[in-house]
Amino acid sequence: MLLRAGAAPARLFAMSKATRIEGRGYSLTVLESPEGPLEFARSVADRLRRDPRWLDYKYLYDAAGSEIFDRITEQPEYYLTRTERSILAERAGEIRRAAGSTTLVELGSGSSDKTRLLLEAWTAAGPTRYVPVDISRTALESACAGLASSFPDLAIDGIAGSFEDALPRIAGHSPQTLLFLGSSIGNMNVVERAAFFAAASRSLSPGDSLVLGLDLVKDPVRLEAAYDDEAGWSALFTKNLFVRMNRELGTAIPIDAIEHVAYYNDRRERIEIYAEFGRAVTIDLLGSGRSFRIAPRERLRTEISRKFRVDRMSRELAKHGFERVRCDLDPEADFAVLTLRRVLQAGPALPT
Ligand code: SAH
Ligand code: AVI
Repeated sequence: MLLRAGAAPARLFAMSKATRIEGRGYSLTVLESPEGPLEFARSVADRLRRDPRWLDYKYLYDAAGSEIFDRITEQPEYYLTRTERSILAERAGEIRRAAGSTTLVELGSGSSDKTRLLLEAWTAAGPTRYVPVDISRTALESACAGLASSFPDLAIDGIAGSFEDALPRIAGHSPQTLLFLGSSIGNMNVVERAAFFAAASRSLSPGDSLVLGLDLVKDPVRLEAAYDDEAGWSALFTKNLFVRMNRELGTAIPIDAIEHVAYYNDRRERIEIYAEFGRAVTIDLLGSGRSFRIAPRERLRTEISRKFRVDRMSRELAKHGFERVRCDLDPEADFAVLTLRRVLQAGPALPT
């Protein structure tokens, strides 16, 4: 038997295996999770057993998913990328001065396109090392190759792997600045977000920085349009997850039965994205022996995209030892780029 449903996630303490590859002008460390390819099947089985059913968003990013995401960022409705870019274009130098001379580690770097603005500011100030981390190896390799030719003096040491596996590996490389752009933090639920901030805090030393991109709460009409563009790239992004399952997990999910549904949940201040099935479908996870019946009109949640308020987020970050040193906004206050410093966490008051 390949999978045991309900098996405890033992990987928290298992160190991933690493293989180092030399590219032209960059190096790549490829992390292999101890669970290997079974991890995807286990993740799907685990989440389809729950009520409500959902899937882990990280599997949206295979090679095709990363390309589709890049197309989403070019759509007129998807204001996030161009707005964050405009902030970085104006403020990269000041952010660099606030962060100091540091290695730049970027989580979920994707195409590293906007990061070029920060890399220009960093390299103008002195020798720089850039450590892009992404689970999508093809996207990472192509970003590294492109950056190596544009920035010949930049030391590029990419890590192909998950945030969880990569974060412990960056500990001890201070002084460093951790970049988490694009409002990718919004794709985590509250439990995942707390675990992420705790891991980031553990991996950084006092004096290190965190640069965090946040999409802010706004008119739901604009938000919903951003996640359901006219051209259909958002819908394709959702459907591609099931194309990937068919290819990698041997499922036979009819893609034409899937409809992309995205709406703003006002109470939870988040976009929720679902795959809605127009007819009854059975998802057979080969190897696990598990089979899941999806009822007509049933929705599987594929993603959330939380929207933030700067002050509330700053308080949340303070609990993890991050002190806000800058908050850069676009003129419409659609998006924020926070620069934070890792400080010694306030401990319990000492008895006098
Ligand atoms: N930072 C870029 C890309 C955002 S898309 C931007 O702002 O445009 C999110 C990126 O995070 C994708 O490239 C995806 O492959 C990566 N990603 C998603 N989940 C991940 C995980 N758990 N570990 C590592 N990378 C992940
Ligand atoms: C990467 N992340 C911040 C995107 C977002 O806006 O939540 C992912 C995305 N999903 C659909 N469209 C964009």
